[in-house]
Amino acid sequence: SALASIDPRDWIRDVPDFPKPGILFKDITPLLGEPKAFRAVIDRLAEQFAGRKIDAVAAAEARGFIFGAPLALALGVGFVPIRKPGKLPYQTVSLEYALEYGTDRLEMHNDAVGPGQRILLLDDVLATGGTMRACRDLVQRTGAEVVACAFVVELSFLKGREMLKPCEVSSLIIY
Ligand code: PRP
Ligand code: MG
Repeated sequence: SALASIDPRDWIRDVPDFPKPGILFKDITPLLGEPKAFRAVIDRLAEQFAGRKIDAVAAAEARGFIFGAPLALALGVGFVPIRKPGKLPYQTVSLEYALEYGTDRLEMHNDAVGPGQRILLLDDVLATGGTMRACRDLVQRTGAEVVACAFVVELSFLKGREMLKPCEVSSLIIY
């Protein structure tokens, strides 16, 4: 199909010095604005995991939601939102994790996943791996199994993959 010839890299824009001087930001908004590129990304992720036993896709706000929800629909499974503190209305499991400076926290409903379930985690970008490690630990703490940590973009020079061992890590686009 026409989608097979799409290279999603063509719709990822480099923005120098964002959010800080010296950082080259990989901006996915051109890709989101081009339906054939956006669809190609979701199709390829879905293809990759279609043969695996997966009960739900889980992803962290905000950018994880953009890819996580359509992937869940494409795979025909539910979507589990992982959110910043105080956003989820029901009882939550919560995990604090270290940032470069200070700490942050992510939460998930405590009835969203549990023992015997197989969860695919997805995010837009793998940088240091801190966000995904927190998501993985949160899901595993409920007794659920993490099938893989999947990403649209991986910044391999930051070695985030190391942080996620021994989990399976897969990225569509590697810089
Ligand atoms: C960005 C990105 C990933 C994370 C990757 O999210 O969407 O979730 O950083 O970085 P890491 O591997 O070093 O953890 P951010 O926290 O900026 O928030 P957003 O998704 O709400 O934009
Ligand atoms: Mg994010």
